[in-house]
Amino acid sequence: MYDLNQLNSICSKCNRCRLYENRTNIVFGEGNPQTDLMFVGEGPGSNEDRLGRPFVGKAGHLLDKMLKAIDLTRDEIYITNIVKCRPPGNRNPQESEIEKCLPYLRWQVKIIQPKIIVSLGSISAKVLINEDIKITKDRGRIFTKGKIKFIPSLHPAYLLRNPNAKKDSWEDFKLISKTLKELRSR
Ligand code: URA
Repeated sequence: MYDLNQLNSICSKCNRCRLYENRTNIVFGEGNPQTDLMFVGEGPGSNEDRLGRPFVGKAGHLLDKMLKAIDLTRDEIYITNIVKCRPPGNRNPQESEIEKCLPYLRWQVKIIQPKIIVSLGSISAKVLINEDIKITKDRGRIFTKGKIKFIPSLHPAYLLRNPNAKKDSWEDFKLISKTLKELRSR
């Protein structure tokens, strides 16, 4: 069984799909490997590609603020993405790219063993929970699969474009906090 460092190093040499051709860095993911709470976005943008770190642009800044509002910091959670290389021009990752990249995320989940996974945005929810998820309808609900509770929430980049949706996100984050506290008190 690999540890996260070994997996990161394997991923950094990955050429399983064509996204490797344009990447500056892979964005493997970061945070606390002992956490109960994992966040999964869609894929790196230009800032993330440049720095090799997830959610470091404007959307990341908003995510940090939302975490702070429920008394969490990045040191307490783990953040990664569905695909580890930047899709050119920030287009959606294609199905074949997602399929090729998914083993890395599966390994990360296996190693970290989070109890809650928050999917950020529609693509992450469809990949992690099920194809038929409608993010605006199904966000803020808990979908239990095996030992993991999945909570779909809106993507912070969407919130930047649609500030009216922030109140929905706040409900989701309160649910995340409540669910985490319940799990910890068991
Ligand atoms: N959007 C994502 O989905 N992931 C990132 O890491 C940054 C922006």
